[in-house]
Amino acid sequence: LLSYAFRNQFIIPEFQEFSKNIEEIYWKCKENTNGKVASYIPQLKRMSPDYWGVSIVTIDGQRFSLGDVNIPFTIQSCSKPLSYGIALDLLGADVVHTYVGQEPSGRNFNELILDHNKKPHNPMINAGAIIICSLLKTMYSPEMSSAEKFDFTMNFFERLAGNEDLGFNNAVFLSERECADRNYALGFYMKEHKCFPQHTKFGECMDFYFQCCSLEANCDLVSVMAATLANGGICPISEEKVLKPESVRDVLSLMHSCGMYDYSGQFAFKVGLPAKSGVSGAMLVVVPNVMGMCLYSPPLDALGNSCRGVQFCEELVKKFNFHRY
Ligand code: DON
Repeated sequence: LLSYAFRNQFIIPEFQEFSKNIEEIYWKCKENTNGKVASYIPQLKRMSPDYWGVSIVTIDGQRFSLGDVNIPFTIQSCSKPLSYGIALDLLGADVVHTYVGQEPSGRNFNELILDHNKKPHNPMINAGAIIICSLLKTMYSPEMSSAEKFDFTMNFFERLAGNEDLGFNNAVFLSERECADRNYALGFYMKEHKCFPQHTKFGECMDFYFQCCSLEANCDLVSVMAATLANGGICPISEEKVLKPESVRDVLSLMHSCGMYDYSGQFAFKVGLPAKSGVSGAMLVVVPNVMGMCLYSPPLDALGNSCRGVQFCEELVKKFNFHRY
């Protein structure tokens, strides 16, 4: 960081000025009271609709945070691009994509459908993410116990976040598993169609999926993960090479086309940035080669995306030329 500072070669040179603009957008979005907090489990329903946090980390380590950036939340579907990235890194894209496609589903994230090859459409929807969990469990070091595999994966997530400690919300995990009829239905449907790799232990694999959703972080932490993706897999805080650049490219491509549920097409059109939202109201957004962001606000729109998060992105690209095209 210091050497960049001395040479005045930051990727965002006028960072203070930039932060002021971010602050303006933040307050504008704060007024947005649309949307409803997820209510399918009590632990999410309890979250305040007023929480609103924005954290930014540039690829050269400049940081700006505003609002509720230290409130712990479960990362939910924001775990999907991360576990997909780990699977790509450990197994390679060819292996991973014999089990899961690259096409937007054009349907809800938990819809009971497979593509015409009888594979899940992509790793960003529940079916695809469940398959990614089974690949991580059975194909990479299958001798590891469930506990070791959980630790291994959590540690990987922590390295993406610059070696900050993640939490695990056991109440959310138990609730998710309790209310998971649709996810089990998806699992059995995929089992019927032989989607899983050999030796998959169905129950353990489903648990692993719920556990990944129940990992706990905050806005600051997730913004570092996003920045690691923006920086080709090298964490700008720890400077550790966590993921291969080719894995990151694949992750960002599918976040771009599939990361925002059934709003992905419109989001790609209007905002033009890879992003992934989660039902807790978190959004992980990447400006490739510039910065990572986390936006956190629990009220969700009809499609399941954070209302303030989406508005923030739309305002951001009106002000700055971050749209990829
Ligand atoms: O599997 C579920 O229903 C939730 N835990 C998924 C979380 C989520 O954010 C929805 N995403 N695609």
